[in-house]
Amino acid sequence: MPDTLSIKEKVEKNFAKPAGLSKEAAAFIEETWQFQEIMMMYNSAIREVRTKLEILNDDLAMRNSRNPIEFITQRVKKPVSIIQKLQRNGWEVSAPSIVEHLNDVAGIRVICSFIDDIYEVAEMLGSQDDVTVIKVKDYIKNPKPNGYRSYHMIIEIPVFFSDRTQSMRVEIQIRTIAMDFWASLEHQLKYKKMVANEEEIYNQLAECATTIAQVDQKMQDIRKQIENSSDSSALSAKDKLERLGNGLMRPGTL
Ligand code: GTP
Ligand code: MG
Repeated sequence: MPDTLSIKEKVEKNFAKPAGLSKEAAAFIEETWQFQEIMMMYNSAIREVRTKLEILNDDLAMRNSRNPIEFITQRVKKPVSIIQKLQRNGWEVSAPSIVEHLNDVAGIRVICSFIDDIYEVAEMLGSQDDVTVIKVKDYIKNPKPNGYRSYHMIIEIPVFFSDRTQSMRVEIQIRTIAMDFWASLEHQLKYKKMVANEEEIYNQLAECATTIAQVDQKMQDIRKQIENSSDSSALSAKDKLERLGNGLMRPGTL
């Protein structure tokens, strides 16, 4: 007879109900199971979105002769941070409550070369048929008072599992290398104890953010000047042939 039991049913049959298991132990096993399952689902959602971004990067690299995305990082929120956020907001600490309330369990950070790449990547991702944009926060057009700049999106995508399709939310932060440099260092400094000169340090960091934004703008202007000075940004048939010959047409190498 074929084995038709799902993994969950097998665990429940063979493991979760041995004789003498206390009610508390059974409840603990059930909750741990549910938690692990949703973490698996968030990891799957991250993989899907990452692949979408990599495909966009490859396609744009073919068309524009350069990569708009420098690199991508990802993380699933740590259990302790999940619990703290639920408790801080007065929400139940349970697997269904995580899925219902939290938008940032699955997080992807996309580091772009130039500011206009950020908007291009965001627009292309957001307009894909299976992507629903839930929320956008444009901290580039509207920087935070401390100087933080980044483009934030919460998107929802369908993820296909063995027996169901589940909509999963993923938080995406898109920023330039320069914005990422500032955010990483500011994040590190925030957790250091600053006693006397807190305000002065806040102002200096905000000043650095302004300088960095000017550099980002300048680098983009330089790129545009170079593009405009060449005959055409589109590759001619001759250019393509030469690049193929040089092994330069592979995405990621342009
Ligand atoms: P959280 O509840 O903290 O996730 O914030 P939110 O729901 O108001 O979302 P928001 O889009 O403002 O920020 C989400 C994430 O962006 C944070 O978890 C950080 O990773 C990042 N972020 C936001 N503000 C700052 C900042 O001032 N400095 C740094 N370094 N990162 C920030
Ligand atoms: Mg967060």
